Amino acid sequence: MSANQPNAKAFNPNALNMVQVATYERLILAPLVRVWENVLDWEHLPYLHDSSFDYVELDVGGPWGWRTWSNAEHTDHVELTLASEDSYVARSYQAGQQVSEIWTTLTDEGDATQVQVEFFIPNVEEDKTEKLGQMMTHLYTRLWDEDEAMMQQRHKRLHEHRDDRLEKSLGDEASIRSKLADRDAITFQLKRREYQITEVDGRLIAISTICPHLMGPLIATDASNGLVRCPWHGYQFDINSGECVFPEHADCTLPAAPELHVSNGHIIARMA
Ligand code: FES
Ligand SMILES: [Fe+2]
Repeated sequence: MSANQPNAKAFNPNALNMVQVATYERLILAPLVRVWENVLDWEHLPYLHDSSFDYVELDVGGPWGWRTWSNAEHTDHVELTLASEDSYVARSYQAGQQVSEIWTTLTDEGDATQVQVEFFIPNVEEDKTEKLGQMMTHLYTRLWDEDEAMMQQRHKRLHEHRDDRLEKSLGDEASIRSKLADRDAITFQLKRREYQITEVDGRLIAISTICPHLMGPLIATDASNGLVRCPWHGYQFDINSGECVFPEHADCTLPAAPELHVSNGHIIARMA
């Protein structure tokens, strides 16, 4: 499988009357390896970027890039193609007609990545160029803000040292319950995993804070319905069984949680 677009790695392969409406440059504070992961990761688009994407459904993807439907009727789509070692191109189509072409070049800057994005739209009248350019720049500023935060958090999770003890005291039960009542997040580490303490029907339990998919945050979720959700790709997990309940095809489960019990007024966490 590869791109549908013939000559997808070339500029303007449909020979349209392309107008460059803007260029966006930015130093992203995440290494190049995280940025390439993000480029190939179509699945985060409707979740991490939920304010920018209404509908994203995978048609096909692979090492070459991916193609997603932009509506349920499958008349519109986006195709992203890796064009060279340091560039990729995203093209949008409506009813088979190409409506944009966006080229991105990535430069390795060690712990950071320099990004240059060039926006091309066909048949733009001269007096509309500036406004369209501003719209694209605003959109991409928000997208890269969201991507940068995700990449930084994933990178930190991949490289941080976590406590490998199998048992520890988490502190006084009364003060822990009082903090939870104030909606303070209480996290702790055990066996190189991280957990948060949550109260469900008066019972204190531990729930993983790190999503088993790609290490997104599970911390800001409401456990009262028995589910936790990750904002990066929308995966949902049953906190009792650990099973992934959405999406159906996902092959990942929550790590086993430690048991919490009370000893002399203190909460003790222990791996079973
Ligand atoms: S990291 Fe992908 S859903 Fe959590
Ligand atoms: Fe993104």
